[in-house]
Amino acid sequence: MRDFYPDDVRLQNWLFDTWRAVSRSFGFEEYEGPIFEFLDLYRLKSGDEIVNELFNFTDRGAREFAIRPEMTPSLARMVAARANALPRPIKWFSIPRMCRAEKPQRGRLREFFQWNLDVLGVEDPLADAEVISAAVAFFRACGLTSQDVMMRISHRGVASAALAKHGIPRELIPQAFAVIDKFDRLTPEAFTPMCAERLGADVSAEALRELVTTATMDDCLELATQDGPAGIVDATALRQLWGHLESMGVADVCTFDLRIVRGLAYYTGSVFEAHARQGGLRALCGGGRYDDLTGLLDGPRVPGVGFGMGDVPMIECLKQLGKLPDPGDSIDVFVIDTDASLLPQMLEIVADLRSAGLRADFSYKRTGVGKQFKQAGGRGARYALIVGDELAERGEVTIKDLRTGQQQTVAAAELRQRPVEWLGGV
Ligand code: HAM
Repeated sequence: MRDFYPDDVRLQNWLFDTWRAVSRSFGFEEYEGPIFEFLDLYRLKSGDEIVNELFNFTDRGAREFAIRPEMTPSLARMVAARANALPRPIKWFSIPRMCRAEKPQRGRLREFFQWNLDVLGVEDPLADAEVISAAVAFFRACGLTSQDVMMRISHRGVASAALAKHGIPRELIPQAFAVIDKFDRLTPEAFTPMCAERLGADVSAEALRELVTTATMDDCLELATQDGPAGIVDATALRQLWGHLESMGVADVCTFDLRIVRGLAYYTGSVFEAHARQGGLRALCGGGRYDDLTGLLDGPRVPGVGFGMGDVPMIECLKQLGKLPDPGDSIDVFVIDTDASLLPQMLEIVADLRSAGLRADFSYKRTGVGKQFKQAGGRGARYALIVGDELAERGEVTIKDLRTGQQQTVAAAELRQRPVEWLGGV
């Protein structure tokens, strides 16, 4: 589990502020859910991969719970409970803290925060395009381009049709997805026996490898349209999604990739993951369309699409690319006294500055002016305010701009009346 020292929290605040700003600029509203849920919510809806990574416990009433490993089941539960009352489209985002008992590695920890952005109540691929655009808008806000990250997109229906046309029996397609989901992480030597074990001897690992690595979107759309009415619907949705991504100006960061199938059980349509182009990090974000999840929770059918993005892989990626911002810890003013006897007046001034909304600090030790200036620098102060003998003599204090080095004297009464004008605006 994680400790967050102030430096870590400062960076995290920057990340959360950026996630929130992007979400709001796309018209999404924030929600929250509980830190744990009934274990069954995940056991029945998320699929084996998540269930094997749960931190679960039994309470004194012998009820089984799990700390949330993802947000989507809670979201679907909340939406299903008020499905008839919520105005559509439901455009919600959240930044939940969650836990998965996975082996900690670069970009994956047991405890993490995950930006979730989802649209519910809309079947139109416009919603898929909008959530993907929001993820790309966030990458751009961090200074990342198509040189740095790629959103890899596929569609489970279109992929099923392509697999079926390549001889994978329909009933084995969920198994084939599970194998393909591991493709990027497995060596060729490990991929072949896994194919044989999960898909039987009749399916050629080589043919599957060839298909998922070389098939273009046009190839797959063609195969899907030959696959009956459902295939035509899926192909149309994928084609429309691509058109919208182009209109929204994010197509340069997007690529069709049949290797993206996603590990979670509830996806029904588009599926996507963003990956850093270099550095071998696992996915930066992942999501897709889940049209049956609220129905599985015994609620009315409310289609949905969205993604989750982890704080850990995102910070790791920015660090690797040298794009980590430096959200320095700055204050407006550090107040310095030139003599211990001035402490009471100095504290009065500090209190005034703080109640005017300025970020003001001072030294706990009555030390030399030089040392206090050093402390002011260490706190990243924009101004130093020097309270010295001239306060008693002429009612004046001195302001030093620590960026320019310029110094000026001001009447203490004037400063106390309009502190923000003199010391604000860092
Ligand atoms: P997921 O692929 O399990 O999907 O996770 C999505 C993202 O969460 C990952 O790409 C990664 O950024 C982050 N993540 C996952 N596990 C960890 C970890 N152990 N440490 C740090 N970050 C991690 C879901 O969770 C879906 N519920 C997303 C979704 C929302 N689908 C539709 N709406």
